[in-house]
Amino acid sequence: MDISARIGTLTLANPTILASGILGVSRASLKHVFDNGAGACVIKSISLEERVGHHAPNMITYEGGMLNAVGYSNPGVEEARAEFKDLKNVGGPVFASIIGQNADEFSAMAEALLPGDFSAVEAVLSCPHTPGYGTMAGQGTPKSTEEITKAIRAKTTLPLFIKISPDSQPIGEVAKAAEAAGADGIVAVNTMGPGMIIDIQTGQPILHFKVGGVSGTALRPIAVRCIYDIRKSVKIPIIGVGGVTTGRDAVEMIMAGATAVGIGTGIYYRGIGIFKKVCDEMEQWMKKNKVKNLGEIWGCAHE
Ligand SMILES: Cc1cc2nc3c(=O)[nH]c(=O)nc-3n(C[C@H](O)[C@H](O)[C@H](O)COP(=O)(O)O)c2cc1C
Repeated sequence: MDISARIGTLTLANPTILASGILGVSRASLKHVFDNGAGACVIKSISLEERVGHHAPNMITYEGGMLNAVGYSNPGVEEARAEFKDLKNVGGPVFASIIGQNADEFSAMAEALLPGDFSAVEAVLSCPHTPGYGTMAGQGTPKSTEEITKAIRAKTTLPLFIKISPDSQPIGEVAKAAEAAGADGIVAVNTMGPGMIIDIQTGQPILHFKVGGVSGTALRPIAVRCIYDIRKSVKIPIIGVGGVTTGRDAVEMIMAGATAVGIGTGIYYRGIGIFKKVCDEMEQWMKKNKVKNLGEIWGCAHE
């Protein structure tokens, strides 16, 4: 059974990728994720300067998944460069995840990444809960996506992935703008919303920031539809993200047109072993259905 995945010029031993924001905060945490079977990892998003992020409580689980308003807490690009200086033997390809308040900041971020450390860059235009960034800063439109993608493209030769919002309308147009401006791939999707959960004893929203991005199971059918729509609009590869918890979910995303799948919230439910479990479940499904490699089912929902 061959579950290796090619995303443009990158080859992954398997199609599971650690999604940004969960665990990828240090070289040691990346190694831990690779040791547990991930095919690639994305670091937690970094900005030019250090950010404290939103105050706690900034995460809450519920029956549909999770609501988070972490607010991009990160040590800033200088410290991140030191932390991720040597990624050669960490276990697989590592994507840098960069954020900015405008095209100039994204451009400066791309320039600040040391050549040779990261295998690819993921630019996040889609956070729904951080003022000044993502959808709260209007970065989810085709125009803004084109402008930011161009600015980053001018500063890096690394494979460039643009992470977009499930709330983009129409999402295919946003993906097209990224492709036309030089992106090598699309990451679909970030958290949706924002949403709100109220503590009915206090009558107040539970998160300190009041609202947060929705991830996990509730997001999965939305993510699958987004991947399906994007596949119809662009030729570049898609990394599907949103509620992947089992091998079945990964197969579904590949059928919609993704070449690999990110996993975030699923780690809270199945532990760090989720990467290996998802791969084993995919292989079992492939064996049962006489599928020898992922290319055989890729995008089959469109036929
Ligand atoms: C606690 C938490 C923190 C996150 N932080 C980031 C982040 O820093 N950058 C980013 O691009 N996405 C971030 N995300 C979004 C995830 O990368 C992913 O796109 C989203 O959660 C959907 O996937 P999932 O359902 O597998 O979690 C975060 C998600 C969670 C739950």
